Amino acid sequence: MFDQENAPLSDVSSEYRLPKNVTPRRYEIRLIPDLTQFTFAGEENVSIVVNAPTSDIVLNALELEIDRVSVERGKTSIAGKAELDAKKERAILHFDRALDAGEWTLHIAFRGILNDKLHGFYRSQYQDAAGKTHTVATTQFESTDARRAFPCWDEPELKASYKITLVVDQNLAAISNARVESEKPSTIKGKKEVVFAETMVMSTYLVAFIVGEFEATAPVDAGTPLRVVHVPGKENLSPFAKEIGAFSLKYFANYYGLPYPGDKVDLIAIPDFASGAMENLGAITFRETALLVDENTASRAELERVADVVSHENAHMWFGDLVTMKWWNGIWLNEAFATFMEMLAVDKWKPHWRRWDSFSVSRAAAMAVDGLKSTRSIEFTVNSPEDARAMFDVLTYEKGASVLRMLEQYMGEEEFRKGIAGYLKKHEYGNAETTDLWDALEASSHQPVRKMMDSWIFQPGFPIVRAEPSADGKGLKISQRRFFLLPDGTQNDQLWHVPLMIRAKTDRGVVNQKMVLTERETTVPLEGKVEWALLNEGGHGFYRVNYNPALLQSITQNLGALQPIERFGLVSDTWAATVAGLSPLSEFLKMARLFTGESDLNVWRALLGAFNYLDMIVSDEDRPALAAEIRRIAGPAFARLGWEPKPGDDELTRQLRGVLIANLGTVGDDREIQNKARQLYARWEDNPSLADRDIAPALVSILAYSGDAARYEEFKQKFKSARTPQEEQRYLFSLANFRDKALLHRTMQMSLDGEVRTQNAPYLMMSVLMNNVARYDAWDFIRSHWDEMTRKYPDNALPRMCEGVVSLLDKQEEVTKFFQEHRVRLGGKIIDQHLERLAIAVNFRRREGAKLAATLKGG
Ligand code: BES
Ligand code: ZN
Repeated sequence: MFDQENAPLSDVSSEYRLPKNVTPRRYEIRLIPDLTQFTFAGEENVSIVVNAPTSDIVLNALELEIDRVSVERGKTSIAGKAELDAKKERAILHFDRALDAGEWTLHIAFRGILNDKLHGFYRSQYQDAAGKTHTVATTQFESTDARRAFPCWDEPELKASYKITLVVDQNLAAISNARVESEKPSTIKGKKEVVFAETMVMSTYLVAFIVGEFEATAPVDAGTPLRVVHVPGKENLSPFAKEIGAFSLKYFANYYGLPYPGDKVDLIAIPDFASGAMENLGAITFRETALLVDENTASRAELERVADVVSHENAHMWFGDLVTMKWWNGIWLNEAFATFMEMLAVDKWKPHWRRWDSFSVSRAAAMAVDGLKSTRSIEFTVNSPEDARAMFDVLTYEKGASVLRMLEQYMGEEEFRKGIAGYLKKHEYGNAETTDLWDALEASSHQPVRKMMDSWIFQPGFPIVRAEPSADGKGLKISQRRFFLLPDGTQNDQLWHVPLMIRAKTDRGVVNQKMVLTERETTVPLEGKVEWALLNEGGHGFYRVNYNPALLQSITQNLGALQPIERFGLVSDTWAATVAGLSPLSEFLKMARLFTGESDLNVWRALLGAFNYLDMIVSDEDRPALAAEIRRIAGPAFARLGWEPKPGDDELTRQLRGVLIANLGTVGDDREIQNKARQLYARWEDNPSLADRDIAPALVSILAYSGDAARYEEFKQKFKSARTPQEEQRYLFSLANFRDKALLHRTMQMSLDGEVRTQNAPYLMMSVLMNNVARYDAWDFIRSHWDEMTRKYPDNALPRMCEGVVSLLDKQEEVTKFFQEHRVRLGGKIIDQHLERLAIAVNFRRREGAKLAATLKGG
């Protein structure tokens, strides 16, 4: 069975955990932000329970000044003094005498800063049409930054209710988790006092307050009033989010069998935002690209992104907000579920988007990390805030959601739903652990869920399942072992409970078989001579399949018998085996040529992903041959589609057209496509109503790819004057697509000089790192500006920027050494993973680089 040593517990005695001798019940918080000085003043009355007599109270506080402390009960008032421990992010309150056990009210007066780091209580700025700068104050507390806004017990299990009051300028909007209860002029001149209703009990990381010149749409009834909130002038970009917002909220209430737990929902677009969005109960915050969108000009991919994020955050209102993980080691209970539920709702909303099919791309991305030696189990030890931050990765989100989908499909959708509803009901307003989830699912289904799922949640990695015809040819011999992208020859005896969905064609017809592989090896009889067999029917399993050559050949000869998602799996699995050195690149290239007739978007994404990887490892000298191969493979598919949409084209086909054009015009270096792209771009500039929304983003990246200094100027201007967040993003990132070093240096400079928001700058740098013209220049730039970057960029983004180091094949040693010396603020295993990915690329090039050119020319 799985290795118990990997079943992680967090250390409750860790120096980062608060003592539990005093616990909070209710916070009454009054805050006065100053949007010109970038400071705030606050006061809180916290109803606490002293569980054992003490003269000290320890709670979290960071970057706060504490002016006054006292505790009260009845007529007793005891004064206290605060001692701040910045390293442990705590305040220790010392009282003149011991507090008896029982209830007390803790009073603290404090001051803090509205920082520009996009965490805690922070400031965000934007310019209006006239160029005037406006400031908003907003919050981002997950995982451990509520302590920057008010002294608190900043651990998810210490739930309390919150009664918030904001004192703000008369002309500003103030928003918090609950509805406005009252609003009256303040005794402070020019200000008003906005009092919000008391919230349900919830964790500190879900508290939010937002202040600024915001506008709100009229509410729509989503079971509760739902609005979209934005800075002035953007109402036209709100209807799409409102629609999916209302749909998904109603869908979840129904699925979970529980009403929405708050009293309103505001979806709020914040000009500077570190992640995509944040599930503060009733006051969900977003970066603008993830919420505000023009339905008439955005591409389908951009619309899907908004639908995903809105649906994801709404799912959290129950999963995360109503029921919360006990501690950060269990964050997958929040994020994997929200990701899974996000798919369910979007799939229900627009079934023709085939959201579960495109989820395969995310599943493959999770496998790309989980195939590393430096991966981790989904549930994983967390002690420090930095450990907590490192948990928000593809393993928590995408692997977590994948194993949930695998379980749901194995158990049956309705059985699964009932179990989930039971779990939420049982733990509402409380906290839960993974084991509680298995209890609920076992209770509803009477199936041994725990045994299967523990092997996926507590073990790192995933299996590759090997299949070959059995000795008599009338069945399959199947075995499992852990998949490594960089095998080192060491023995690994991990096993998983692998739900296998087999579909096979025998001389007696098509047979289906559902089973769980628990041993290392087994034989599955199929009652007939096997012609072809497919192991991961429907593509829901979180494992890869390695067919023996005979089976692989029979499958590739019967591609027509596979669903698109199964063809995706075939390409994705074969590619992974190629990178891992289990199968030669020449085989993959041979297989790719069988797909020239392919018409599915996601299968193309798998194929083109592989070719983009090859573009990263190929020498400059051989790159033209690779480009020619890309044209040979993708060219015919594009020729069938043409530039003009056809009447019967569905939305995915229209997106595919854009994807093919983008790739042919860049890595495919197709001159004809580049010329046509320039013509079309000019025509659509003159007459925007002619533009094809799914091709427009491709044109921007192609024109940048083949563009000169004048084009650079033009696109930079477009970035600054964009009408929508999506357009702004397209033009901004196009500045990393040019192929002139001097221009790319300007882009790098922009990522530091304040021209680009810090929410985007690290990602822009990552794109330059991945640009094969400037990758080594970008690396030098990062090294020489490292301190400045660590100071300026938000905490979550630095490791993301470093993802780009996978492209630095000629500098492996230097990169490794650099990160040995600069580990600060890069928690968890993230840097080890980046370095291992680099090692894989280097190995792959050593193994296949020389042969690649020969194969391409010879083919
Ligand atoms: N809770 C997260 C956001 C978060 C994570 C904030 C960690 C701070 C620290 C939120 O629910 C989320 O998952 N957002 C995603 C978007 C989602 C659609 C996957 C994001 O921000 O990328
Ligand atoms: Zn989330």
